[in-house]
Amino acid sequence: MAKIIIFSGAGISAESGISTFRDSDGLWENNKIEDICMAGCLDWNYQETIDFYDNRREDIEKKEANYAHKELKKFVEKYPHDVKLITQNIDNMFEKAGCKDVLHLHGFLPEILCESCEFKDNIGYEKLQEAYNACPECHNKLRPNVVFFGEAAPKYEELYSELNDCEVFVVIGTSGNVINTDMFLSRAIKLSILNNLEPSDAINDELYSKVLYKKATEAIDEIIVDIESFLEGN
Ligand code: APR
Repeated sequence: MAKIIIFSGAGISAESGISTFRDSDGLWENNKIEDICMAGCLDWNYQETIDFYDNRREDIEKKEANYAHKELKKFVEKYPHDVKLITQNIDNMFEKAGCKDVLHLHGFLPEILCESCEFKDNIGYEKLQEAYNACPECHNKLRPNVVFFGEAAPKYEELYSELNDCEVFVVIGTSGNVINTDMFLSRAIKLSILNNLEPSDAINDELYSKVLYKKATEAIDEIIVDIESFLEGN
C-alpha cells in the first residue's frame, strides 16, 4: 500500500481548462445536479444525461495535462512503490501526462458501462450512441462510467485500503464537499499538505501540516520538495 497519497479534485485540472464543479461558473452553477448526475437520471432523463457526458467527453479531447499532472507523473516514476494517485476527477489528464495506475473514485469519462451486465469499454472521445446502440452482450442500455449522487462508489473501498499505511497525505484541488479529506488525517499521517485556490467551508485547514492557497501548477514544486525532505528524514 502507498505511503504517500496524492488526493486530487477538479482544481488540479482547472489549469487544463476543465471547469470545476463549485467555483463560480462551475459545472454545478450552469447545470442542475438532479437532472444529469443523480441516481435515477438515466431512467427519466436518459438522453439529456447521455448528451451532457458526451459533451464533456468531447471537451477533454482538446485539453492537455498541465504542469501539476506532469510533475506528479515524474514523481510517481521516481517512487513507484510509495506513491498512489487518487482522484475524484473523471477526466483523463493524468493519463494524458503518462500516468498508468490512477484510482478514479468517481469513474472515468472515456469509459461506458452496461446498466445490466458487466460489459465495459473505453470509447475514447466518441459519443456513446455513435459507439454503441446498446450493450453488445445483453442488449440493455449503456451509460457513462460515472458515479452519480446517490449511487454506490465501488472504488471507495480501495481508497480506504490505501489509507491504511499512508504517512503523507496531499490534497490538491478539492472543496471537500463530497469527500471530506479532514477525516483522513489520522495520527498515522505524519505530513499533510492542503493545496487549493482558496479556503473551503468544508475543510478545516488548521488540521493540515501545510496549507498552500495558490494554483496547483504554482504549488506542485514546493509540494514535491516537502515530501522529498520528509522522505529523507525518515
Ligand atoms: N489549483 C488548485 N486548486 C484549485 C484551482 C487551481 N488552479 N482552481 C480551483 N481550485 C480548487 C477550488 O479552490 C476548490 O476548492 O478546487 C476546488 C474545486 O472544488 P469542486 O468544484 O467542489 O470540485 P471537487 O471537490 O473535485 O468535487 C468533488 O463533486 O460533483 C462532484 O463527482 C464530482 O468529483 C466531483 C466531486
